[in-house]
Amino acid sequence: MENTTNKRLTKKDRPKPIDEEIIIPDEEVLISVTDPKGKIIEANDIFVKISGYSKDELVGSQHNMIRHPDMPRVMFKIVWDHIKDRENVMAVVKNLAKDGRYYWVVTDFITKVDADRNVIDYTAYRRPVHEKVKDAVIPLYKTLCAIEEFDGMDASEKFLTNYFEKIGMTYDEMVEEIIVKNCHKAKAMGFGDHPEEEMKVMSKEKKQSLFNKLFGVK
Ligand SMILES: Cc1cc2nc3c(=O)[nH]c(=O)nc-3n(C[C@H](O)[C@H](O)[C@H](O)COP(=O)(O)O)c2cc1C
Repeated sequence: MENTTNKRLTKKDRPKPIDEEIIIPDEEVLISVTDPKGKIIEANDIFVKISGYSKDELVGSQHNMIRHPDMPRVMFKIVWDHIKDRENVMAVVKNLAKDGRYYWVVTDFITKVDADRNVIDYTAYRRPVHEKVKDAVIPLYKTLCAIEEFDGMDASEKFLTNYFEKIGMTYDEMVEEIIVKNCHKAKAMGFGDHPEEEMKVMSKEKKQSLFNKLFGVK
C-alpha cells in the first residue's frame, strides 16, 4: 500500500554510514518489486526489517535511497543495462540501512514482461553473501569507486570492459564464478539446491579459478 501523505525518500535522505554490519540469516530472501521506472511498489517483511525503513517509507521511493557510497555506480549501470534489455542479471551489492549500518546481498534482478515484451515490473531477490565473496568483491569495488571519484563513471566502465576482455568473461559469468567458486553455502547464495549441477554445465575456462588469480581468494 503506497503512502501518499509522506514525502518519498531519495538519495538526499540517506544516513551517514557507520562501520557496522547487519548479518542476514542464511535462509532469508529480501524481495522488492519496482515499476518500470524503478519506483518501489512492493517489499517483503524481511527486506523492510533489514533496511530499517517502514514499508510505507520504502513503497513509492527509489532504491537509490539505500545505495551505499562504497558501491560503484557502474555496477548499477550494468544492472540497468541488462534489465532494460529484459535480461536477468545478478550482482553483489552492499546496501545502507536506515541507521547507517550496512548489509551485503547477492541480488538476482528479474524482469517481468508482457506478451509484447513490454516491461511490467522488476523484482530483486536478495540473499546473504558468503564472507569469501565479500572479500573478493571489496577490492574490485574499491578500485572502481576510486576511478569514479577521479575520472567518472565512463572511466570505471572502460576499466571494467577491459578487465572482462582480459579475463574472457562477461559480467554475469564473473559473478557466477565468484559465487560458485567461493561459496560453501551455495544454497543460501541463490544457486538452488544443487550448486554442483550449476558447476557441471560451466565451461572449463569458466571454472578456472579466476578470483584466486585476481584477488588472491583461496
Ligand atoms: C528491482 C531493483 C532493485 C534494486 N535494488 C537496489 C538495492 O538493493 N540497492 C541499491 O543501491 N540499488 C538498487 N537498485 C538500483 C537503483 O535503482 C539505482 O540504480 C542505484 O541505487 C544507483 O542509484 P544512483 O545512481 O541514483 O545513486 C535496484 C534497482 C531495481 C530495478
